[in-house]
Amino acid sequence: MSGAAPTSDWPPSRPVMGYNTWYHFRTSITESAVVRQAELLVSSGLAAAGYNCVNLDDGWMAAQRAANGELTGDAAKFPRGMPWLADQVHALGLRFGLYTAIGARTCQSLPGSWGHYDQDARTFASWDVDFVKVDDCGGMPPGTSVAALTEHFRQFGACLRQHNPDVVYSQELPIHQIGKPSFRSSVRASAEIAHMWRVAHDESPLSHDYASAMILGHLAAVRDLHSFAGPGHWNDLDMVAPAYPESGWTLADLRNQLSVWAMEASPLLISADIGALPPDALAALKNPHMIAIDQSGEQCSTVVMNGPVEALMKLDPEGGIAVLFVNLGVGTVTGRFSLPQLGITAARASGHDVWTGETTTFSEVSVTLEEEQTVLLQVKSTG
Ligand code: GAL
Repeated sequence: MSGAAPTSDWPPSRPVMGYNTWYHFRTSITESAVVRQAELLVSSGLAAAGYNCVNLDDGWMAAQRAANGELTGDAAKFPRGMPWLADQVHALGLRFGLYTAIGARTCQSLPGSWGHYDQDARTFASWDVDFVKVDDCGGMPPGTSVAALTEHFRQFGACLRQHNPDVVYSQELPIHQIGKPSFRSSVRASAEIAHMWRVAHDESPLSHDYASAMILGHLAAVRDLHSFAGPGHWNDLDMVAPAYPESGWTLADLRNQLSVWAMEASPLLISADIGALPPDALAALKNPHMIAIDQSGEQCSTVVMNGPVEALMKLDPEGGIAVLFVNLGVGTVTGRFSLPQLGITAARASGHDVWTGETTTFSEVSVTLEEEQTVLLQVKSTG
């Protein structure tokens, strides 16, 4: 075993913040690329803002298990081995995460953990792995029921915890149940089994044309899941800034995503080349108000509509109420909301725009939004 990892709040009671290799590197990850991203996380100030975990996604493992059945890293990509890499990441003050799959193969047809749950959990613990993501890509015996699949995720979680009581367990159990009657019960089971579970499909195709519609669509999809979110348990909407900026997303798309993720208290795992993030995107990811709203760990549960403008609300840990206004209509629209509709009993209130930094005061809110635009306001009584 190598030295203890540094961050003290682990497993975190707040939604996990960190880095994931998937959208930028796909399977072309190497040890030097991972070390560079970990160093950039620190030098960019993202680690100080709370992004303190570096997770390798699919593609790190060798095409075959070792003769003793152990999972090993791909020696061409990781010549110094996974324990060495874990040490490098830990030495930077960051947590280290790995990916595997519940069935016999990963989504890239590499070895999954089927038949090896205890062995892989022991291996990960011996490498000082702090975070394990378990994907669901099939590779199970034909006809495996949702109940049996749930039981496999439960068993794997128990093995991971047995070998490392502090491991963060992230899993994708509900993802194939999206839109099916079994979705909600999968989410309920996941909330008992894991720290975070995917409730939305991958953020793809990664193009500006689809981005904001897809992002805003999550609001309706996860609205009724707020009772499952809370300290140590989060509905996971997928990674943030996926392959930004080469994905074609605009800054507005990124801000929309971060606003929605913050209101839904989703984990914030950046999945881009940190060295290529423009300053405005970096600033968005480090925005302390967006982070505070996300890290409250509570998902918004109150929604008020005015025409096509939706206002989603939750208590703001910085005081008052966080309100996300969303244009669900076509073209530019205006929505008007009284202060009591926003849960404010005072005659006047102030609104701090999380993204522009402007503060205004008002006795009612009138908000004009372009198509697919959102505004995230921190609203407080002023008297
Ligand atoms: C998908 C998963 C992605 C990524 C990918 C790797 O199933 O949702 O987040 O892990 O597999 O192949």
